[in-house]
Amino acid sequence: MPTARPISSRADARSAAPVYSRLFRTVLSRMDPEDAHRLVVAGLRLADRLGASAAVARLTRPAPSLRTRALGRDWPSPFGLAAGFDKGAAAVLPLAALGFGHIEIGTVTARAQPGNPRPRLARLVADRALINRMGFNNDGAVEVRSRLQAMHRRAERLRAAGRHVPVIGVNIGKTKATPLEEAVEDYRFSARQLAPWADYLVVNVSSPNTPGLRQLQDIESLRPLLQAVREAADAATEEAGGPRAPLLVKIAPDLADADVDAVADLVADLGLDGVIATNTTISRDGLRTSAAQVEAAGAGGLSGPVLAARAEEVLVRLRRRLPAEAAVISVGGVVDAADVDRRLQLGADLVQGYSAFIYEGPLWVRRINRGLAARRVSSGARRA
Ligand SMILES: Cc1cc2nc3c(=O)[nH]c(=O)nc-3n(C[C@H](O)[C@H](O)[C@H](O)COP(=O)(O)O)c2cc1C
Repeated sequence: MPTARPISSRADARSAAPVYSRLFRTVLSRMDPEDAHRLVVAGLRLADRLGASAAVARLTRPAPSLRTRALGRDWPSPFGLAAGFDKGAAAVLPLAALGFGHIEIGTVTARAQPGNPRPRLARLVADRALINRMGFNNDGAVEVRSRLQAMHRRAERLRAAGRHVPVIGVNIGKTKATPLEEAVEDYRFSARQLAPWADYLVVNVSSPNTPGLRQLQDIESLRPLLQAVREAADAATEEAGGPRAPLLVKIAPDLADADVDAVADLVADLGLDGVIATNTTISRDGLRTSAAQVEAAGAGGLSGPVLAARAEEVLVRLRRRLPAEAAVISVGGVVDAADVDRRLQLGADLVQGYSAFIYEGPLWVRRINRGLAARRVSSGARRA
């Protein structure tokens, strides 16, 4: 990773809402990060079961001015939740109530797997960053498919009642136990199961926590993999009588520039729908957290504001190289509406975030959507 931007003092100033900030300082930050994550998700699901989502959704619904056209459809907001937060589609609608324009579930693998041993998630609070080596813990494509089916039935009812329903993406990866030589069949299985329930499908070849996975980014491996997934997904959606799912590939920030270009050329050559950039980095450059604490966090992918500079470089590179009809979804280090807006100005079709959600809390999405809407009004006023 050539340039990692040290976290700016601006990031400190952009503090979370006071209530969540206090909860984070006094309770969540003292808990094991994965336990804290589970507690928050359980809280969101409970609030949903108790009927709170309707009231929350009224407060958080993205403004109509945020409606965005990308990948051949309308998105309620250009901002969504990145993969990894809801790996198994266990809390899609409770999360939807917070105002995300889209939610990318996964990474889902063909077979269920427990992931790496805990602890496997660490916070670097001084950098508002995370290091994770979760290792695709998930319930497998068959189980996740049945959850998505049930979720879709409920989403249809909500849509009919005029409620905000986000676009749902599905991110697939390789089962750890599957040898690399059999990766294509593993992805193909997941694509067949999940494409009919996905508004878009993502081939993840960029997580650092499955041994060998990132080798699949080499063009000689990536070409047959993407072709096979495209065919499997198209066959499955056609059989189900639904629309085809746009197919994107998610890449690492650690790819050399020439490799980013090569992926862009492959996407253009295969006529794929787009690229998601970027996943977490294996670099530890640019952190202000002490070396001892970084060392104690151990191996894994680093995310948060430290990733922003490289994520932007990759976005600009992809946008220059890809045909206009291929979408770029930018992810990595986004904290506030100004960050999202900047990515859009740099040519992103859509933007995602994950780490800042942990530090900023459930109203983070609402603040971003409101900030974006306000920026649109003021830039419109300036133009008028
Ligand atoms: C705990 C954790 C788990 C993640 N799991 C996945 C995953 O399963 N699949 C994936 O494609 N990306 C995963 N990511 C990467 C995010 O989707 C995103 O690309 C990355 O965190 C950079 O965005 P951020 O700086 O806004 O967090 C994960 C990130 C974190 C922090």
